[in-house]
Amino acid sequence: DSSKVKVVTCIAPVNIAVIKYWGKSDENLIIPINDSLSGTLSMDFMCAKTTIIASPELQENTFWLNGKEQSFNNKRLTNCLQEVKRLASKSLPHLNWKFSIKSENNFPTAAGLASSAAGYACLVSALAKLYEIEDNVSFIARMGSGSACRSMYGGWVLWCKGSSPDGRDSIAKQIAPASHWPEMRVLILVVNDERKKYSSTDAMKRSVETSELLKYRANQIVPKMTKACIEAIQKKDFEIFAEITMKESNSIHAICQDTYPPCVYLNDTSHTVANAVHAYNEFKSSNKVAYTYDAGPNAVLYLLDSSVDEFMSVINYLFPPQDTAEYYKGLPLSSNQLSQ
Ligand code: PMV
Repeated sequence: DSSKVKVVTCIAPVNIAVIKYWGKSDENLIIPINDSLSGTLSMDFMCAKTTIIASPELQENTFWLNGKEQSFNNKRLTNCLQEVKRLASKSLPHLNWKFSIKSENNFPTAAGLASSAAGYACLVSALAKLYEIEDNVSFIARMGSGSACRSMYGGWVLWCKGSSPDGRDSIAKQIAPASHWPEMRVLILVVNDERKKYSSTDAMKRSVETSELLKYRANQIVPKMTKACIEAIQKKDFEIFAEITMKESNSIHAICQDTYPPCVYLNDTSHTVANAVHAYNEFKSSNKVAYTYDAGPNAVLYLLDSSVDEFMSVINYLFPPQDTAEYYKGLPLSSNQLSQ
């Protein structure tokens, strides 16, 4: 009986940035100091799932993440809720019903595998569905976790930092669907699935406060790289795409090293993977594989379908399978919009 209960379920995918977001100009609204660009993974392998049950009979709001109850005393969560409710029609009968939110990820949380991106994209989509909002809500997902706004679209997605102080134009948009480059694959090497040493929020804040190099990166390097990377994707030029992706990852980890005290995310295994990628590309006399690292030691490799088997044999040689915690093989990109 829909007058007694409303139930919505959404799933949302992970995205992996090739031009990374690093640094905020507004901590509360989550407005970034640079544009970023990512590929959204297919939801068949890694995704977040959220179910919301709203009912006039519930006494209080509850939120469960991966089986553990979470507090509502969380600014990001309340900012998202407030914005979604602001857009909702005031005449909705269930607008003020209490609700229970249950979210789950089918991959390690907070290990630098973009779990918060999928999580907030999913939560905001579920809330938008619950409150019957048709507008683009990527700016609301951004208020939960910056990179979440990119998970609202499939394929290749650009998050423009925008220029409005209220963040209204700091939104994500698709620049090409996954079908544009169907041979593209992503390989995720889980080096370590523990929670990360420093949250990306704290580390970014410290970088903004202490790294002089960050200004040069945000104002000079990123705009040039973003333009070139969009062109490489449009032309399906893997050689250039791979070079930009690797240089860009190296650039944010150089910024992390320049942060004081430094925030070091990569470990020896991460460096071994990067070295193997360079050695392999040299052996092939062209870039066949590109690595990228977020705020954690796990390597994410972009490569074409035709290189997956051969490069996996290199990885299996370097890390015999019992030493590799887990790997997901050759994930395709997704062209799906969020399915609800
Ligand atoms: O959205 P956050 O606050 O988890 O920041 C993530 C930032 C990186 O993953 C390191 C880069 C990116 O653009 O995804």
